[in-house]
Amino acid sequence: MNTYPDQIHRAAHSLGQLGAPEVAVVLGSGLSDVLRLEDARTRSFADIPGFPRPTVSGHTGEVTVGKISGRSVLVQRGRVHAYEGRPMSEIVLPVRAYAALGVRTLVITNASGGIAERLSVGDLVLITDHINLLGDNPLRGPNLDDVGPRFPDMTHAYDPELRARAKEVGTELAVPLEEGVYLATLGPSYETPAEIRAFRALGADLVGMSTVPEVIAARHAGLRVLGISCVTNLAAGVTEQPLSHEEVIETTRRRAADLGRLLAGFLGRHV
Ligand code: HPA
Repeated sequence: MNTYPDQIHRAAHSLGQLGAPEVAVVLGSGLSDVLRLEDARTRSFADIPGFPRPTVSGHTGEVTVGKISGRSVLVQRGRVHAYEGRPMSEIVLPVRAYAALGVRTLVITNASGGIAERLSVGDLVLITDHINLLGDNPLRGPNLDDVGPRFPDMTHAYDPELRARAKEVGTELAVPLEEGVYLATLGPSYETPAEIRAFRALGADLVGMSTVPEVIAARHAGLRVLGISCVTNLAAGVTEQPLSHEEVIETTRRRAADLGRLLAGFLGRHV
């Protein structure tokens, strides 16, 4: 059989050959190199049944299982976005496979445009909540009763305890962390200045084109989530500067070392 639940389990079985991780870390645009793992075993998306193939530069599409700070961790480099034209079910299949594999915590990173005036290019921001303007939801359609409930609660989607722990680690390592609400748009065009003004009025501090589907699927499956965003540019209209993908990748590269130290410290601390 090749039902969707079968695909999830086949992917989980394939990943189980790499190890038995407790935590999964998704590294977004330009952030692929921030973590070093010991005893690392890697498999490309193309060799994991059911995994989607990313098409954007800066996203290589591979999964590594190994040790970070003594803990068994799965690291996903690259991801698929809704704007690539894939159905939500494919976009969230990796997260669902990690849950089936026994992962209990998802650490998700991304690049975003800064909307809030207090934010600067290069800031690392703990995501406190999100606004879903993708126009879709990965849970649309028949509920996967074996995975989670029909109407999952999203009150504490971004786990307050994990956020507090990340803040402590940030203070110890002198890596300042801001906090903010992430708004997801479909893309791939960047926003207009009028859209950014509207999103600010809605309560958004950050804007991006990822993360929200994975977080919804993770919460559905009962995973705890920590989200960290790198502000790669000020959102459209905040300055006169036009937006470019090159600037996004360049900023994440510049902040990669601090993000890597923060994540390694967090993973060593997290229980
Ligand atoms: N808008 C949407 N997505 C983004 C941005 C942005 O300004 N920067 C990085 N990802």
